[in-house]
Amino acid sequence: MTTSQQAKPLLSVLSGKKTTRPPFWLMRQAGRYLPEYRELRGTAKNFLDFCYRPELAVEATLQPIKRYGMDAAIVFSDILVVPDALGVGVTFETGRGPIVEPVRGPDQIPKFDGERTEAHLAPVYETLSQVRAALDDQTALIGFAGAPWTIATYMVEGGSSRDFAATKRWAYADPDQFGALIDVLVHSISHHLICQARAGAEVVQIFDSWAGVLPAPMFQRWCVEPVAAIVRAVKAAHLDLPIIGFPRGAGAAYQGYAAATGVDAVGLDTTVPTQWAASHIQTDTVVQGNLDPIMLVAGGDAMNREIDRIVADLSGGGHIFNLGHGVVPETPPAHVEALTQRLRDVATGIS
Ligand code: CP3
Repeated sequence: MTTSQQAKPLLSVLSGKKTTRPPFWLMRQAGRYLPEYRELRGTAKNFLDFCYRPELAVEATLQPIKRYGMDAAIVFSDILVVPDALGVGVTFETGRGPIVEPVRGPDQIPKFDGERTEAHLAPVYETLSQVRAALDDQTALIGFAGAPWTIATYMVEGGSSRDFAATKRWAYADPDQFGALIDVLVHSISHHLICQARAGAEVVQIFDSWAGVLPAPMFQRWCVEPVAAIVRAVKAAHLDLPIIGFPRGAGAAYQGYAAATGVDAVGLDTTVPTQWAASHIQTDTVVQGNLDPIMLVAGGDAMNREIDRIVADLSGGGHIFNLGHGVVPETPPAHVEALTQRLRDVATGIS
């Protein structure tokens, strides 16, 4: 076929095909480390307002693509738009992180209302469809949501936390009640991901950023089972949509996570040994990751060696190059450029 387009590299790898180099994108690739983001951000009255204004969110989504040409754009939004859409108050204060109206008991659990959340999140879907129209035929569009456990921690703790004591206490002492909150989140997140796919997302990622704080049986109950339910719901609506799971900190429980949840790829955090991942995870599924975000701050030879090691260790199977967690605000943009160049050189054999 002479006129057929080459499939987008990210989608090729997710469908089990080989590519000359691992496709790459970076978690939190848009954001404060980019001067053009900080400038744009200054034009919105607050962070959520920024997320809900497609003219700003589209531009923020495309900023890293214009600079670096990643293989995927990830829609500019946040995992906390889901509780916000459920009517739980969410605010972001500069320097303090998110503040969420605490949900501490059964009478404070919001009700799932698909029409209401869909209307509230319509600007996010509008952003996706505009970004999709703007991308070239090599760059994939990723939608995302937080996993129920991770979103629940923000809702129960009232924001970020160090020990997750209130959330754990509730989950351990009254799993039926806490399960009711998780169920509302399963429905809301499934609906949000389905709407994103309808609007143009070609892949979705489920961020379970705080999966690593639970004992094994609780990880199964509060991380694996809810994500499996979401995957079933999303696949029932969009059979072919690839889903990346990111159970950050899961440790040994990374093994079997893809089979147990039904995700098509697994994001590895920085602590996962890549050779172990090659023999225990990559045998069943595509892996994504896992450069330490602080290596990207350090840059130079240390960073290059780590890039080469990760690429080599994971070269035997499906691999999407990424960080093990999000880009941090102190990251020099030039180091992202150097990483981009290094990954492109892999394809031509220069090193
Ligand atoms: O990856 C991208 O470029 C897309 C955008 C994106 C944001 N947040 C934008 C954002 C994505 C994918 C997220 C995911 C997210 N949000 C997660 C999961 C990934 C992870 O880091 O574990 C979590 C836990 C959140 C919740 C959240 N949002 C926190 C804790 C904070 C405050 C800390 C911080 O980085 O400021 C946010 C705010 C936030 N989300 C910012 C950005 C660019 C910074 C706010 C600003 O610009 O004023």
